[in-house]
Amino acid sequence: MTIKAVVFDAYGTLYDVQSVASITDAAFPGHGDMITQIWRLKQLEYTWLRTLMGRYEDFSVVTRDSLAFTLKILGLKYDAGVFDRIMDKYVHLDLYPDARQALADLKQYKRAILSNGSSDMLNTLVRNTGLDSILDATISIDSKRVFKPNPQTYTLIEERLGVRPAEVMFVSSNPWDAIGAKSFGLNSVWIERVSPEAMAEACRKSDLVPPLTMFKALRMQMDELGLAPDHRVHGLAALPALVSG
Ligand code: LAC
Repeated sequence: MTIKAVVFDAYGTLYDVQSVASITDAAFPGHGDMITQIWRLKQLEYTWLRTLMGRYEDFSVVTRDSLAFTLKILGLKYDAGVFDRIMDKYVHLDLYPDARQALADLKQYKRAILSNGSSDMLNTLVRNTGLDSILDATISIDSKRVFKPNPQTYTLIEERLGVRPAEVMFVSSNPWDAIGAKSFGLNSVWIERVSPEAMAEACRKSDLVPPLTMFKALRMQMDELGLAPDHRVHGLAALPALVSG
């Protein structure tokens, strides 16, 4: 079956979640990297815990709660203004440098985002970064009240775009999302931004593994869950050739 739609994860795939580090470090000099990494790790953890407990709260709540957790455990004092300034970066995240070109090169397909983000935060981010004029749809998992990789979330692609799972190429650099999509029945591509060799080298270089290296080890390497994506590429630029086969 030919591919009719290319659907992207948002945070970590089109948008660089590490770009919050400029704001976290300006707010708390010397702590920026640690805040950034613990925040993202806990944010994802909370999505899975809330889904398992059946206690859904949308991604803006989860993102605020995980930032509050992070600042608390690091013993950092803050006021509402500082907190809101950091949160605001989530609707102004940097696009990965290869994102715009890849989207442009895929214009013969339907192009969409399927993200854990709440509708409000996603639509604002997409508008702020100008992707609203390119994408056919920005789909939030919100209406399902469970987070990825729950299979219910991936059904939204067919519901909203009218394309069957076999006609969809799903793209994520989050390993658990790429194999979650595959497990559901979508074609999936994992963007492998950090090779296992580079990973091992970064860990070997230092006795004290810095927070960003720890994050890459935990969240940017393929998981051992007995599943694999259909494709593995090293950047978004590889997509047009891959999708057209
Ligand atoms: C998303 C998160 C999981 O955009 O990265 O759905």
